[in-house]
Amino acid sequence: MVGELDKWMLMATARAPTNIAVIKYWGKRDETLILPINDSISFTIDPDHLSATTTVAVSPSFQEDRMWLNGKEISLSGGRYQNCLRELRNRAGDFEDKTRGMQIRKEDWKKLHFHIASYNNFPTAAGLASSAAGFACLVFSLAKLMNVNEEIGQLSAIARQGSGSACRSLFGGFVKWTMGNQANGSDSIAVQLVDETHWDELVIIVAVVSSRQKETSSTSGMRESVETSSLLQHRAQAIVPNRILQMEESIKNRDFSSFARLTCADSNQFHAVCLDTSPPIFYMNDTSHRIINIVEKWNQHEGIPQVAYTFDAGPNAVMIARNRKTATLLLQRLLFYFPPSPDHDLNSYVLGDKTILQEAG
Ligand code: ADP
Ligand code: DP6
Ligand code: CO
Repeated sequence: MVGELDKWMLMATARAPTNIAVIKYWGKRDETLILPINDSISFTIDPDHLSATTTVAVSPSFQEDRMWLNGKEISLSGGRYQNCLRELRNRAGDFEDKTRGMQIRKEDWKKLHFHIASYNNFPTAAGLASSAAGFACLVFSLAKLMNVNEEIGQLSAIARQGSGSACRSLFGGFVKWTMGNQANGSDSIAVQLVDETHWDELVIIVAVVSSRQKETSSTSGMRESVETSSLLQHRAQAIVPNRILQMEESIKNRDFSSFARLTCADSNQFHAVCLDTSPPIFYMNDTSHRIINIVEKWNQHEGIPQVAYTFDAGPNAVMIARNRKTATLLLQRLLFYFPPSPDHDLNSYVLGDKTILQEAG
């Protein structure tokens, strides 16, 4: 490493959106490498909404790796952060800035330390996949900083070791995470099924039912399900493989009725697995259940589905409307059933480029 040793700092900033699974990942076969027990499929949200922004800096004056999340320092001692950092350091490239007479060689990255600052523009640890946006962003920004020369698919395998769902956030559009069958996880990567232009009449509406941090993290929730739920094994082996094929078909053909049926069924089955866990895990609340009822009744009344709903590990609803007209009707309905009032805690909807905020209850 040459140059004025203590006087420089290099930085990189990236933004990564969250993704919402329509066929859920729930359960690991390897806790350290984060290898799932089934394939999953998600769509990536427009990065203007629900995204993480991460700045990574490196300087010889930094004594240790440190990280701040939403302005508060967090510990990097957990294996997940260390695993991502190690994998990236091992793949770092040479860096040279001739005008400043600066050079960092591949092997120097192992001795240098990082300072990392990340902000989420949506609730953290509330079931809107902050870990997906967060680890995708962390891996991508560090890869840029360290000149890591890898395909996005390989970066997805590194992000996976931060949080499973994160591997899918490195691509836009609809994305599949193939569980793979190699013990070292080399084939457990994300692949893009179609890009974001393929089905652009869909409108995503997120109803933030509660922005509070959930009591059971996804990591511990799925560990408890693997240990205690028999429905989980049945789901992974007998249900999901077929559903994945059907979901891929409905996305390819833009078949909303089939897409909506599969999405709602998979969300409900995932929450049934949570209920089948001992002790049971309740991620949804009464407001979540009311939203399901409203959408189900509406879809039944219309004869063909207008809106699909899905809930991750938290009470917040993600709804997918068939088109813009349906999205407008859906918003009208939500405002009718949940008028601005302190009596309930549904507090914001996000639609395309608009956020409608209501008073939180
Ligand atoms: P969620 O449903 O929001 O994904 P999880 O329980 O899966 O909730 O994960 C929450 C954890 O993800 C946080 O406690 C934190 O460790 C990590 N995380 C969230 N946002 C970020 C971020 N921007 N950068 C790095 N890690 C993050
Ligand atoms: C319900 O990826 O957050 O959102 O791999 O332990 O970090 P870890 O869990 P995480 O789990 C996501 C679960 C889910 C479904 C999904 O995103 O597929
Ligand atoms: Co998560």
